[in-house]
Amino acid sequence: MPCLKPMIGPSILNADLAQLSEESQRLLDQGADYLHLDVMDGHFVPNLTFGHPVVKCLRSKIPRAFFETHMMVSNPQQWIEPMADAGVDQYTFHVEPVKDVPEVCRKIKEAGMKVGLAIKPGTPVDVVKTYIDFADLVLIMTVEPGFGGQKFMSDMMPKVSWLRENYPELNIEVDGGVGLNTIDQCSQAGANWIVSGTAVIRAEDPKAVISTLKESVQTAIDSKKC
Ligand code: DX5
Ligand code: ZN
Repeated sequence: MPCLKPMIGPSILNADLAQLSEESQRLLDQGADYLHLDVMDGHFVPNLTFGHPVVKCLRSKIPRAFFETHMMVSNPQQWIEPMADAGVDQYTFHVEPVKDVPEVCRKIKEAGMKVGLAIKPGTPVDVVKTYIDFADLVLIMTVEPGFGGQKFMSDMMPKVSWLRENYPELNIEVDGGVGLNTIDQCSQAGANWIVSGTAVIRAEDPKAVISTLKESVQTAIDSKKC
């Protein structure tokens, strides 16, 4: 069985968005494994961020890093082609508003991107069970999507543990309120892709925070012997 890899992806939502490429490059230089780009449409969530034109500009400045877009949008199917054209590597979308999840997954793959399935705190984990075979990753939200800097919801950890028990090789991502005080719960439950926004962006030493988050995940993976 291949070992899981710890992956730390800072969310740039609470960074200085006027300096998106400089901030993103700084995070990559400080050890980020990927960039988690929060796309919001003001409809699926009560907030608005940026879309594919901005992601495309960012890609032109940062040609090689792994880009994940976290699509907090009501119609994820609509943005597949534009995001693929913008150079996105992984398209992670919420299953809640989608009627035909396998169809959206198929279109994402056809467009050359990896598939992430995201669920909000109120959505039971078994909703994604039927779709696991179509997905490269499942994202368990640990806050209500929409804003950075919210309080981590520990009561989401049973969803992560359940997924890890049933799918030992699945990439499981957590997002929302994850930082130095909450990472051990996530890694012990079995998450290996870690999104961290304010805890990294606002840190005096972001490099140290990224490396501590990574160590926590690696230690948990090692303790399970992969
Ligand atoms: C929330 C976003 C998260 C958020 C993470 O809707 O999906 O990615 O920006 O930020 P923190 O780590 O500050 O909760
Ligand atoms: Zn996110």
